Amino acid sequence: MLNSKPLGPHLLATTLLIGTALPGFAATAADDYLSFKFSPETPYYFENGKVDFGTYNGFRRYHSECHVCHGPAGLGSSYAPALMKSMQVLTFNQFVDVVIHGRTGLDERVMPSFASNMNVLPYISDIYAYLKARADGVIGTARPDKFPKVTKNAQAATN
Ligand code: HEC
Repeated sequence: MLNSKPLGPHLLATTLLIGTALPGFAATAADDYLSFKFSPETPYYFENGKVDFGTYNGFRRYHSECHVCHGPAGLGSSYAPALMKSMQVLTFNQFVDVVIHGRTGLDERVMPSFASNMNVLPYISDIYAYLKARADGVIGTARPDKFPKVTKNAQAATN
């Protein structure tokens, strides 16, 4: 007859550990760029000098829509503040709120509302990711290298 010893604590612990790796349990950090998904807690993926495609897209969107006031790579200009410090303080929701609603500063300088700008609104998390990576010192002022865009199929294959 087969050994019918009940599950010992050791085996039980192993089973629990494996359980946490199953799909449905949110991973806090992605193992590779294929399984990476944006979240406010882990907004970008960075490995070997390359960022995920969304963060790279954020670089492009930033430089087409925000650069004119906030300067190259978020460094600021005479009109609008640098965003490096802001990005260490603002939550994702606060960031989205400012970009969507805009704001008029005490000195009457205006941060416009981007609520109807389709070059910004759909990519707001990409821009956030880019600026966070900048503020964290992960990427410099130059155009970052990128991993290829992840298709839904490629992502499904890793899940
Ligand atoms: C027309 C100029 C202009 C453009 C374009 C612009 N901003 Fe601003 N932005 C400002 C000004 C001016 C302020 C400061 C407002 C104040 O004093 O409260 C500001 C403030 C902000 C803040 C708040 C900073 C903080 O510390 O609270 C964020 C975040 C921000 N901008 C992000 C963006 C992003 C992202 C874009 C591009 C999608 C963008 N801005 C485009 C002028 C601009």
